[in-house]
Amino acid sequence: MAKLILFTAVIIAILSHGGSVDDKCAACNAVADELESQFLKEKPRNHVDMRNRLNSKGQREGKVIDYRISDLRVVDLLDGLCDRMQDYTLQKVESKSRQWVKVANFDNLTNKQEAKAHANDISTYCGRLLEETEDELAEVIKNGSLKVGDVRKVMCQTLSNHCSKSSETDSEDEEDDDADEL
Ligand SMILES: *[C@@H]1O[C@H](CO)[C@@H](O)[C@H](O)[C@H]1NC(C)=O
Ligand SMILES: *[C@@H]1O[C@H](CO)[C@@H](O)[C@H](O)[C@H]1NC(C)=O
Repeated sequence: MAKLILFTAVIIAILSHGGSVDDKCAACNAVADELESQFLKEKPRNHVDMRNRLNSKGQREGKVIDYRISDLRVVDLLDGLCDRMQDYTLQKVESKSRQWVKVANFDNLTNKQEAKAHANDISTYCGRLLEETEDELAEVIKNGSLKVGDVRKVMCQTLSNHCSKSSETDSEDEEDDDADEL
């Protein structure tokens, strides 16, 4: 019975919360950090051969594209990003503030269900963030203006506006539609 009540409470929490995050700036920074770690894992790749069609004379058409400016690279970097955000949860640090942290094993957490609900929230948020920014994001990846060390700024200030431009490192109290809990 207690389990059922808890389960119901979680479902209600998920539904009423609508998969939204309270602090978009903090969530955006967490997504940016995950993308940045993907950048750091990138290995040099061969050029992408797009000559996959034959013209009427039987010659290959299309071109060979530098991997760095290819759509394939954009896909490699962004694919699975929001799935990986399922590894994150919101945890109390110090007395009051809460931070997005990567969790190695949710089973070890005492509040596993709540932690999982946060993970779903940020994953959903990530999907919306990418939807909102994907064209420009693809553009800055391909034209080389998105660099390691710059991802938070570009994603969260320039492209999405989820962090205010004035406070570079500040991830707290951004414009918030939901009221903060105490
Ligand atoms: C989490 O639990 C697993 C299995 O019980 C254990 O092996 C692991 O060391 C724990 N990790 C942490 C960070 O406590
Ligand atoms: C890359 O693309 C972005 C977005 O379209 C643009 O603002 C920026 O100036 C471009 N940078 C370069 C180096 O072309």
